[in-house]
Amino acid sequence: MIPVIAIDGPTASGKGTVASLVAGRLGFHYLDSGAIYRVLAVAAARAGITPSCAADLPSLIQMSWSLPVAFQGERVLLSGVDVSSEIRTEQAGLMASQLAVVPEIRAGLLQRQRDFRQAPGLVADGRDMGSVVFADAKLKIFLTASAKVRAERRVKQIEGRGQQASFQAIYDDLVARDERDMQRAVAPLKPYPDSRVLDCSDIGVEQVVNTIIDWYLN
Ligand code: CDP
Repeated sequence: MIPVIAIDGPTASGKGTVASLVAGRLGFHYLDSGAIYRVLAVAAARAGITPSCAADLPSLIQMSWSLPVAFQGERVLLSGVDVSSEIRTEQAGLMASQLAVVPEIRAGLLQRQRDFRQAPGLVADGRDMGSVVFADAKLKIFLTASAKVRAERRVKQIEGRGQQASFQAIYDDLVARDERDMQRAVAPLKPYPDSRVLDCSDIGVEQVVNTIIDWYLN
């Protein structure tokens, strides 16, 4: 069986950075499952579909089964068009989290995520990698950090892209997204019984990566 390391956790916990570094160190593939939800959000917005409108739900579900998403290195493509920057806006993230509460949409995206499991191995980050998508993962990490630390990291990330960010707005959005991810009926965000919780509020990326590799190899 091709090994999987599942890294789940709340928004801005550093999952993406950590997961891609772990994948690089082990020579494994990397799946950013949140990017798929974000691409769906962008595709829906382009089609003028809003997640809050019940009449649009069948089209959204249909879209999740046939989403023309592709990854090319760092680039994310929708129908062959580069949407790498567009999917990273706070608006796309918020809409992605609204779409993610719909069980039929999660089901529609399931196989597309499982297709990333290829030799020699996969590191997958998201909310339900170890609990649902790769329930047989060899190692399951629940990576977390305090809301304040995560909001500060997100602000730095946005400013690093040359954009402006208000700490309070980011903090409020992050808490709202945590709340929605934790309260949803399907695949709620929480440490699952066979996951190992890693709180990285006070430890650096390098140490987190080393810890995960150590746990994987031992
Ligand atoms: O960057 P951030 O951690 O906020 O979000 P992301 O990982 O890019 O995912 C965007 C949204 O998609 C999240 O807020 C989740 O609601 C949802 N998501 C999910 O439900 N399940 C996943 N496996 C990945 C993302």
